[in-house]
Amino acid sequence: KRTVVLISGRGSNMTALIAAASNPDYPAEIVGVISDRANAAGLGIAAARGIATKVISRADYTSKEAHDGAIDAALASLGAEIVALAGYMRILGARFVEKWLGRMINIHPALLPAFKGLDTHARALRAGIRIHGCTVHFVTLDMDDGPIIAQAAVPVMVGDNEDMLAARVLKAEHRLYPLALGLVAEGKARMEGGRTVLAHFA
Ligand code: GRF
Repeated sequence: KRTVVLISGRGSNMTALIAAASNPDYPAEIVGVISDRANAAGLGIAAARGIATKVISRADYTSKEAHDGAIDAALASLGAEIVALAGYMRILGARFVEKWLGRMINIHPALLPAFKGLDTHARALRAGIRIHGCTVHFVTLDMDDGPIIAQAAVPVMVGDNEDMLAARVLKAEHRLYPLALGLVAEGKARMEGGRTVLAHFA
């Protein structure tokens, strides 16, 4: 399945998806990377791997809808079938989300439905939870609220600070996202009636 990754920054999850997709047996192909920030480090990484990149800045459009529309047009020209958000730091509008419903996924650095939104690791430490992790989910109208596709758990260790915990979760993200995108691309994880339907594994 032709997949386009949307980023805003570092792009380490994007890099993990590109690495997985370099295996010819992997069911998704990364055909492009779109960033809303011209200085996103991930752009250079993608370009170095021969992947088409495009910067679509919010500042170049008069409205959020026009910005979303430009992204949608770029997706069409890339022949995208799946959109994977990977550290894309902007909320997409209703029209765009509805158009891509069931075909757009996101990775979130917490075990949803806990810790939606930003600063998940600091909040996890403050809450004193002992198990933290990451979630890949279908993107729906409410932020970090869509049907869950896959999750990975990591322990919170005594003495952890935010950076230590973030690094441990990020490692799990890099394993989880390729797995989850693979399930969606193969049709083994589908969104139906607002829920994720997972194929039974023999
Ligand atoms: C990741 O933790 C991801 O879950 C998120 O933002 C971070 C992006 O990192 N919401 P990267 O750009 O993939 O390195």
